Amino acid sequence: MPVARIGFIGLGLMGKPMAKRLLSAGHELKVFNRSRGPVEELVRLGAEAAGSPAETASESDYTILMLPDSKDVRLVVLGERGVIQAAKPGSTVIDMSTISPVVEREIYATLKERGVGYLDAPVTGGTIGAEQGTLAIMVGGDYAVFKKAEPILRVLGQRIVYMGPSGSGQMTKICNQISVALSLLGACEALLLASKSGLDLDKVIEIISSGAGASWQLANLGPAIVNRDFRPGFKAEHLMKDLRIALEIGQELNLPLLGTALVHQLFKSLVARGEGALGTQAVVKVLEDLAHHIVSRSLGGAEES
Ligand SMILES: NC(=O)c1ccc[n+]([C@@H]2O[C@H](COP(=O)([O-])OP(=O)(O)OC[C@H]3O[C@@H](n4cnc5c(N)ncnc54)[C@H](OP(=O)(O)O)[C@@H]3O)[C@@H](O)[C@H]2O)c1
Repeated sequence: MPVARIGFIGLGLMGKPMAKRLLSAGHELKVFNRSRGPVEELVRLGAEAAGSPAETASESDYTILMLPDSKDVRLVVLGERGVIQAAKPGSTVIDMSTISPVVEREIYATLKERGVGYLDAPVTGGTIGAEQGTLAIMVGGDYAVFKKAEPILRVLGQRIVYMGPSGSGQMTKICNQISVALSLLGACEALLLASKSGLDLDKVIEIISSGAGASWQLANLGPAIVNRDFRPGFKAEHLMKDLRIALEIGQELNLPLLGTALVHQLFKSLVARGEGALGTQAVVKVLEDLAHHIVSRSLGGAEES
C-alpha cells in the first residue's frame, strides 16, 4: 500500500509495539505519549516526536489512539490541545483503546461535523499479538471510512471484522472482556483446587488445555500463576475498567450480569491492595486469600501461615 502519514498517541504496553509495526511497514509516523521515554525510543527508530495530540494529528491521514480509558480518549481528542483542534477534514481517527461505546458515539458525532472520520477499533490478542501483528480487531463506524482504513489495520491485525455503526466495535470488545474475565476466574479456581488436592499443576494445565475446558486464559496465564509471575501483559486495572463498562451497559439495558459483577469485585479488591498494575492473572491472589491457600507446585500447595 502507499506510504501513509500516521499519528500515534499512547505508547504503552500495546501502543509501542503497534507503532513499531507501522514504522517497519514503511509508514511515516508522528508519535505522542504522556511520558517521554517511549517517544524517544520510537524517534530512535525513525518516528517524529509531536508536542501535543493536536500536533500529532495536524498532518496525518490517520491518527491512531491506544489509551487507557474513556476520559483519556475524550481529553486527547476533544481537549484544549486535542486532535480535534488540528485534524484535517477527510482524515481518519482510529481509537484502538478499549473504552465506553457511549463515549465513542459522542466523539464520532463531534468529529463527523468537522468532516473527520472516526472508527472505534478495539483489539484482542495481547502484547504478543501487538508485536506480531496478529491482533483481532473489531470495528465500528462508517463502512466507507473502515474500508479506507483497512490496509492500515492489516499491518496490526490478522482478523479484522466490521461490526456495524459507531460503538459496535467497543460493544463487541466488552462482550469479549466478559468472556475473558469469567474464563480467567475458571482457570484460577481450577488451579486452586488442583493445588489444594495435590495434583501436578503442569499436567493439569496440559490436559485441560487439550479438551473442552481449554481456554486462552488457562493456557497462557495458568503457567504464569504457577510460576508466580505477575508481570503485566494486560494490567488488572484495565480489566477492572472493562468490567465496569460492561456493568454500566448492563445497567442501561436492564441486563443482569452476575458473573461479571462477581469478577469486578475481585479485581476491585486487587486494585485496593495497590496491585492494579500487575497482570490480570494476579487476581488469583485475592482468591488465594479467601481460600487461605497459595497455588503451588509442591504437593498439596502451600498453606498460608
Ligand atoms: N495490554 C493488553 O494486553 C491489551 C489488550 C487489548 C486491549 N488493551 C487496551 O488497550 C488500551 C491500552 O492498554 P495498554 O496495556 O497499552 O495500557 P498502558 O500500558 O497503560 O499504556 C497506556 C499509554 O497511554 C499513555 N497515556 C495515558 N494518558 C495519556 C494522555 N492523556 N496523553 C498521551 N498519552 C497518554 C500512557 O502514558 P504513560 O507512559 O505516561 O503512562 C501509556 O503509555 C487500554 O484501553 C486496554 O484496555 C490492552
